[in-house]
Amino acid sequence: MPDLALKTESTPASPLAAEVARRRTFAIISHPDAGKTTLTEKLLLFGGAINLAGQVKAKGERRNTRSDWMKIERDRGISVVTSVMTFEFDGRVFNLLDTPGHEDFSEDTYRTLTAVDSAVMVIDAAKGIEARTRKLFEVCRLRDIPIVTFINKMDRESRDTFELLDEIEKTLALDTTPMTWPVGRGRDFLGTYDIATGGIRLLEGGGAKTGAAERIDIADLAARNANLNVDEIREELALATEACKPFELEAFREGHLTPVYFGSALRNFGVGDLLEGLGNFAPPPRAQESNLRKVEADEPRMTAFVFKIQANMDPNHRDRIAFARLCSGKLTRGMKAKLVRTGKPMPLSSPQFFFAQDRAIADEAFAGDVVGIPNHGTLRIGDTLTEGEDVTFVGVPSFAPEIVRRVRLTDAMKAKKLKEALQQMSEEGVVQVFRPRDGAPALVGVVGMLQLDVLKARLDAEYSLPVDFEVCEFQLARWISSDDRKKLDVFIAANGSGVADDVDGDPVFLAKNEFYLGYTRERAEGIVFSSVKDVKKTS
Ligand code: G4P
Repeated sequence: MPDLALKTESTPASPLAAEVARRRTFAIISHPDAGKTTLTEKLLLFGGAINLAGQVKAKGERRNTRSDWMKIERDRGISVVTSVMTFEFDGRVFNLLDTPGHEDFSEDTYRTLTAVDSAVMVIDAAKGIEARTRKLFEVCRLRDIPIVTFINKMDRESRDTFELLDEIEKTLALDTTPMTWPVGRGRDFLGTYDIATGGIRLLEGGGAKTGAAERIDIADLAARNANLNVDEIREELALATEACKPFELEAFREGHLTPVYFGSALRNFGVGDLLEGLGNFAPPPRAQESNLRKVEADEPRMTAFVFKIQANMDPNHRDRIAFARLCSGKLTRGMKAKLVRTGKPMPLSSPQFFFAQDRAIADEAFAGDVVGIPNHGTLRIGDTLTEGEDVTFVGVPSFAPEIVRRVRLTDAMKAKKLKEALQQMSEEGVVQVFRPRDGAPALVGVVGMLQLDVLKARLDAEYSLPVDFEVCEFQLARWISSDDRKKLDVFIAANGSGVADDVDGDPVFLAKNEFYLGYTRERAEGIVFSSVKDVKKTS
């Protein structure tokens, strides 16, 4: 199998290219309860990043006690925080970006997926494709992110294997190639058959290992479990080997085909196979589109974009960490980069790496890596840092909110403080803030209800600002633009009370409802109404 990967990865031309080529930056997408946390722990164990299983959850709990606003997470048993975990395995560096696990689709989740090159889709073998998996998959598809599938909980009752694969193919319109095949199911699950080598890896003993599966004769299986019908198994394996599409690296890399592994995260079974598959097939850091051109990962000059801001990881220090994905070159501690938005230099004196339990100063990092950059509000989501030319990366968009509310402050004396706090929250990407041009109080927009809860809790805990949210006359927001500046000015003047500025000062049209939006749009010739805001490419 590995020779498939070798064919596409020619010998790197430089030490930088070699470092870049060995990186795999990925996320895990799944429905809650499918086993993402358990799988994460096991992956980290393989990489030696943690010594004790259970650390991932323990870490979450520790964090919860540290910060008040994270109380929401504790109460709801969810993880609002996105973090990154780096580990090494078999000569490769894996950066695992954690996506928030709650039901609300959040911009945070989307932005995290802008920073990965591949994803692992975890599916509960008894349940198949569930709602959230599907939604996250759609986001991956938008960006052509290659997906490796892990069908989990094979140690329990599971659905028919062919049926599961068929469901993936039909509901996601994604070809599947099983790399392994389960032998026996539920209580009688014995292990997996390696389709390429014909070996069987047994659940009992050796399950946690990687490498070629032990070759066990199918006839010998009966001796291990009297319940098994060996003839049926033989038939199923023959059918599986014959009927399933062969693995095609190119189709996988283009996002059309997913290799499928079966296992049990809880029993640490099949996780090694998955990790090997990820190492061999998942792409190294991709070239990244900018406003000017595509930036290749092994270009010598460092570039990076900020996809996440995390405030108050440690409230005692009121620190703010910007998570930046390196797109090209090498970051060296102490180097100066330019923040393209302001044109100002920014010293990177203490970039950080994150491990399961800890963060550590990063002396150097390469394209594909994610570093945390402590700052006091200088960095915003979507910002580009560069060592060379002034490029701005595209593809870290903002979405039009689905819920718009007016913030009601009980203490009118604190209006100025609220303004500052909202500005910070919007720069962090917690909510979007719209300031109506007619001077009316600011509105906040969110994609999911949970964001409002987080905003309320944080305003209270960090700024002593108890607030409520009021339903207001506006329900929808759309960014407006035009090739003709005059036309835009005329539209804005004519719709004064329905136009607001976003955090960057870009104009937004606020509408009472879909009908009104449609009505206005039809009459606003030359004005573009957009539900997504992204950096524009200049050709
Ligand atoms: P999530 O992050 O995707 O939400 O899932 P998580 O890993 O927390 O797993 C959800 C539940 O499923 C957990 O049980 C976990 O132990 C169990 N689980 C995960 N992988 C497997 C597997 O391969 N086989 C079996 N049988 N169970 C698995 P829980 O009882 O909800 O939590 P816990 O008390 O065990 O932590």
